[in-house]
Amino acid sequence: MTRLIVFAISVISLIGILSLRKFKEETVSNKKFSYVKEEKDWKKFKAAITPVKEEKKVVAKAPKATGVVVVLDTEELKNGKKLYAKCIVCHGKYGEGKTAQKAPKIGGQYAWYLEEQVVNMQKGVRVNKAMMPYIKKLSSQDISDISAYVAKLPWK
Ligand code: HEC
Repeated sequence: MTRLIVFAISVISLIGILSLRKFKEETVSNKKFSYVKEEKDWKKFKAAITPVKEEKKVVAKAPKATGVVVVLDTEELKNGKKLYAKCIVCHGKYGEGKTAQKAPKIGGQYAWYLEEQVVNMQKGVRVNKAMMPYIKKLSSQDISDISAYVAKLPWK
């Protein structure tokens, strides 16, 4: 047992002496630590070890239509335009759709088709949770008016 203890002590002291020697070899400097410089160096180093840049994801953008004017010659179209304001967040000003919202293009679509979809969503025949709060309170006249307005927007 004593032998073991003596052996352990000598090993530990040997390690201690060796590490002291290593400590001596390390250069000591009184230079002020500069965080800014360290950060710069780190950025440089990081840039050097990561030469391959991540490729930007290419998302197809909906074509932008500008300067579209729908002639609001009936009360229905006027009401439709007014009500469509709520839909713009997702479907875009010209009904061009928005990738980020996963909302399809509806501008220029047939009015009867648009109407049917919204009616079906209201009834729950076609499930669309995202849109539900926006169409819940629309009357059938409102839906018909919005559809008429959206159908007048350009398809392209
Ligand atoms: C919160 C975002 C959002 C809002 C606001 C919104 N929609 Fe939608 N709409 C969607 C999404 C998402 C879909 C696609 C659902 C699907 O894939 O079934 C959709 C689908 C539709 C469709 C079916 C299109 C097709 O080709 O079948 C019509 C019509 C429609 N929306 C009309 C409207 C109208 C009118 C309003 C305004 C009262 C409106 N939306 C507001 C998100 C929205």
